[in-house]
Amino acid sequence: MNISAFGCGKVILFGEHAVVHQHPALAAALDLGVSLTRALPSAHLEVLVDGWTPTQPHDGTRLGEALARIQRTVTDALGPIPPTTLHMRCDLPPGAGLGSSAAWAVAVAQACCLLANPHQPAPAHLILQAADAAERVFHGNPSGVDHTTSALGGVLWFQRGQPHTLQPLDIEPIPVIIAQIEPGADTALMVSRVQQLLDQAPRVAQPLLQTLGELSRHARASLEARDLDALGRWMNIAHGALTALDVSTPALDAACHAARRAGASGAKLTGAGGGGCLLALAPPEHTDAVADALRQQGALLVSITRAGHARRDLALTPGAP
Ligand code: PMV
Repeated sequence: MNISAFGCGKVILFGEHAVVHQHPALAAALDLGVSLTRALPSAHLEVLVDGWTPTQPHDGTRLGEALARIQRTVTDALGPIPPTTLHMRCDLPPGAGLGSSAAWAVAVAQACCLLANPHQPAPAHLILQAADAAERVFHGNPSGVDHTTSALGGVLWFQRGQPHTLQPLDIEPIPVIIAQIEPGADTALMVSRVQQLLDQAPRVAQPLLQTLGELSRHARASLEARDLDALGRWMNIAHGALTALDVSTPALDAACHAARRAGASGAKLTGAGGGGCLLALAPPEHTDAVADALRQQGALLVSITRAGHARRDLALTPGAP
């Protein structure tokens, strides 16, 4: 069957955790992600990703539950999905803060829409709705920033609400260094750690979350002015606030400091924290030195890339989740 589907990976530039509590975030798509390689008629709906266990709806795994939710959402809107094996490739390290679960959900949702109705492009609002249902299985209380960025691409201003505020920003991709420092922690666990702090000490946690949201506002202005030095400064402050919220780790802190010592204008963890990836911003003359410094810190993966790729022209329906 000749269909193509893709979910982008993403980095959260600013506002992780704060975005769960209605503060704004800035996220940017990566050109890496999850893509459909082949769709073959089969006895039942099944998803195969290289190196992952095969997934069928309700197979007792979280992926199986997520697949069942995507199947239900798409079937309710477009009719039955012909039984198919979806072969997919994932270029993202799983569970490291680069949005692998959201990219999987978006790519599967898009493929299911195209199978259910090959005569129309997969509707963006339906992809978002189905991916949201899947992300609830993985993350419990997802803000929506991951799968929205995965579906829409580009650089996105996102604020949770009824409906969410989504503003694709007209910004050139930003040169960044992404390093996976440790295996990632469970996002739901890290989100609940912040919730615990909010419950125990709201007057400590709330100002930190508010600061992270304010940094998104400053960062947006700096991005629009293409002031990457200022952007770096906001990143360093954001990492400090995330550390104060207790979602960083000694290894992430050490790697951020090493990146700055090597010439990065800014470095911060990205995603849920508790391990996983950091994001560094460096002027071109220091990029290689920063990447080397991160390798010397024992990074599992270092990528010199650009964030904000692949702006996709999926039409948004007002009120989409
Ligand atoms: O680590 P990731 O890619 O799952 O990012 C999670 C971002 C959070 O703000 C911590 C959670 C959310 O739902 O926005």
